[in-house]
Amino acid sequence: MADKRRFEVFARFLRETFPRAGRVYDVAGGMGRLNHELTRLGVSATTFDTRRKHLAVDFAERRLSLDEPCLCDLVAGMHPDGATRIIIEYAARHRLPFAVVPCCSDNGMPYKPWMRHLAEEARGLGFEVAEAVLPMTGRSRTLMGSIKTQGP
Ligand SMILES: C[S@@+](CC[C@H](N)C(=O)[O-])C[C@H]1O[C@@H](n2cnc3c(N)ncnc32)[C@H](O)[C@@H]1O
Repeated sequence: MADKRRFEVFARFLRETFPRAGRVYDVAGGMGRLNHELTRLGVSATTFDTRRKHLAVDFAERRLSLDEPCLCDLVAGMHPDGATRIIIEYAARHRLPFAVVPCCSDNGMPYKPWMRHLAEEARGLGFEVAEAVLPMTGRSRTLMGSIKTQGP
């Protein structure tokens, strides 16, 4: 059972971890609750999901694709199911940081190998990868990536 506080917890985490991110793409955001919490914290967000029924937040009623114009400085996803990879790939294409809290894989892979696989995929796309655990129940491991900058 997913923790009902997950949106508030993740919003606070994003605000603290990426203090310079003023515009966030909330991918696979369901009803838009993460967007609502980010907005309360002064962060502007757009939610991508195919759901028709959602909160009155900035909501793009479609799947995020690699062709989506980039108007954000952080790509995030809470339990994004089949959208987990696109978050990482989209962030890589636009050289933006990402933060995802994966729940299940898109190919039947068990959770722990899936987490390792995502981290490896992100490294392969040029990210430095870090992990955090959110203070909530349910799937709470968070993968974060930031693009490695070239040395002098
Ligand atoms: C498990 S739900 C999680 C929703 C919300 N983040 C939450 O924690 O309650 C997964 C969501 O992913 C959405 N989804 C799956 N693939 C997507 C994609 N490529 N782009 C946007 N949303 C997607 C589904 O419509 C669904 O709402």
